[in-house]
Amino acid sequence: MKLLIVAGSTRLASFNRKLAHAAADLARAAGAEVTHLELADFDIPMYNADLEARGTPADVMKLKQLMFEHPAWIICSPEYNGSYTALLKNTIDWVSSPVKSDPAWQDGFKSFSGKVVGMLSASPGALGGLRSQSHLAPLLLNAQCWVAPQAFALGHAGDAFDAQGQLVNEKHRGSVQAVIDQVLFAAGRLSH
Ligand SMILES: Cc1cc2nc3c(=O)[nH]c(=O)nc-3n(C[C@H](O)[C@H](O)[C@H](O)COP(=O)(O)O)c2cc1C
Repeated sequence: MKLLIVAGSTRLASFNRKLAHAAADLARAAGAEVTHLELADFDIPMYNADLEARGTPADVMKLKQLMFEHPAWIICSPEYNGSYTALLKNTIDWVSSPVKSDPAWQDGFKSFSGKVVGMLSASPGALGGLRSQSHLAPLLLNAQCWVAPQAFALGHAGDAFDAQGQLVNEKHRGSVQAVIDQVLFAAGRLSH
């Protein structure tokens, strides 16, 4: 199963990027073919329809194709003001916008439709960014994704990783594993 993992933060010491790394390791061990996306590697401006009218940026096209090619996704979503980050929203807005000049990309939800998405989040706070997930889920459903019922929010994230960026608590690893297992299970059945 081709699994895409991405974090909604580009911060160097980001907890969500660490969580994405940990999830990628666990998913590879579970036999998934993992693509670990770093949004910092994509040159994507703030969405503006006037800018888009001059041509969809090449990195948006790259992302559309990558997301389209992966039936299963894990999104590690930081929480800003009780919601997901502008980075994540901006990325999703670009990817979901139809490319008027390209017949292959007239359907804005082409990259989203039918994807099985597992949500993880991490925050220094006690709730672990859970509220970002409660905003992200309806967005994904609207974009025709299947959102996995199993999700995990890692609270007190500052204490959760060792110096190598590994999750120190076995229970946390188990919670991440449960999301991965459900996403791989569901994607395996829904993508045929
Ligand atoms: C503008 C802003 C708003 C934030 N709001 C919340 C919040 O509502 N809930 C929360 O748990 N943490 C909040 N935080 C703290 C983030 O969870 C923390 O910065 C976290 O490290 C961001 O994720 P990252 O480590 O993956 O970059 C906020 C941070 C910023 C910069």
